[in-house]
Amino acid sequence: MYKLKEIADNIFYVGVNDRQKALFENLWPLPYGVSYNSYLILDEKAVLIDTVDVCYSDIFLKKIADALNGRSLDYLVVNHMEPDHSGSIRLLRQQYPEVQIVGNNKTHGMLEGFHGITDGLFEVKEGDKLNIGSRELTFYMAPMVHWPEVMFTYDPKDKILFSADAFGAYGTLDGGVIDTDMNVERFWEEMIRYYSNIVGKYGNPVQKALQKLSGVEIGTICSTHGPVWREHLGKAVSIYDRLSRYEGEEGVAIVYGSMYGNTEQMAEAIAYALAENGVKNIVLHNVSKSHPSYILKDVFNYRGLIIGSPTYSGQLFPEIESILSKIEVREVKDRLFGYFGSFTWAGAAVKRLTAFGEKMKWEVVGSPVEQKQALKADKYTECLALGEAMATKLKQQTK
Ligand code: FEO
Repeated sequence: MYKLKEIADNIFYVGVNDRQKALFENLWPLPYGVSYNSYLILDEKAVLIDTVDVCYSDIFLKKIADALNGRSLDYLVVNHMEPDHSGSIRLLRQQYPEVQIVGNNKTHGMLEGFHGITDGLFEVKEGDKLNIGSRELTFYMAPMVHWPEVMFTYDPKDKILFSADAFGAYGTLDGGVIDTDMNVERFWEEMIRYYSNIVGKYGNPVQKALQKLSGVEIGTICSTHGPVWREHLGKAVSIYDRLSRYEGEEGVAIVYGSMYGNTEQMAEAIAYALAENGVKNIVLHNVSKSHPSYILKDVFNYRGLIIGSPTYSGQLFPEIESILSKIEVREVKDRLFGYFGSFTWAGAAVKRLTAFGEKMKWEVVGSPVEQKQALKADKYTECLALGEAMATKLKQQTK
């Protein structure tokens, strides 16, 4: 019954779309949903690459049964064990008890831990090959992209890389599956958000994986989330390459907390000066309103980061403290850092932001501004100077 998109000769897309979950990992908003991608290769052997979230196992298994049309399923390759991809393995095994599950030694440990599966396993190591008829699948280990068991599977015949989460993006596949069949514009921002939310801490492992693949001829990337990359493969790889090097574009994210608008006025003054001095990419995030998912996206995307906080109970504003923790966990490197704060009777925020910048080893730009109570002319001028200093520094680095 199901019409399945053929990615290459006898390689079919059997993934599903999730438009029901509000939060990915119960953390990150999904305004455009998310796809869980799975691929079925019908060669002399029938090989499935990854499964899908268990919530969608019913439709997933029906698609596979349709495509197999009575054949047995010989192999399941598990590139990644996170449950959004491994959730249907136990049910798949019940339906196809003969299926051999291909993974590395870490995969197999997790198969037992998550599903109690200990038999019918086929272990592979770096560079191992699996002959499935006209194709010889090759396995490349990609540990910590972004779990330790992650591996990539390469099909040399069709020059397809099955890349687990790498090169993935939030967003469902609304009809089209391959990038050539759709307008992909909405996926670029969602790719950056996905990377910064999910993979962000693991820049070095992503770089190692990219280096490992540099000698491999790749014409198509089949990730576990978002479009199959073919026409825009270069752009998808370049975004992951840039983000995993923590390289920001010319622009500034101003992230601030404000209870009654006084700290916010400082942020507005800084933004005005940035724009007056030629910075076009400026994003202001009120931490009480912007979800951290979107703040992290802009922290990863731009080289300039300016953070402002009122003093709250002798500490940072709580939501600022929270976003600092998320940035620190992701070990964001090489940001141009400006900061400012306010207080009513005893200042603590600026001191704490100073310590944060030192811990992150970021370059401090301009002079931090500390305001008592409402914004006054002298501090307004200091905010303008901070914005101008950041703009000047960004322009210097762009030359
Ligand atoms: Fe899409 Fe790391 O799971």
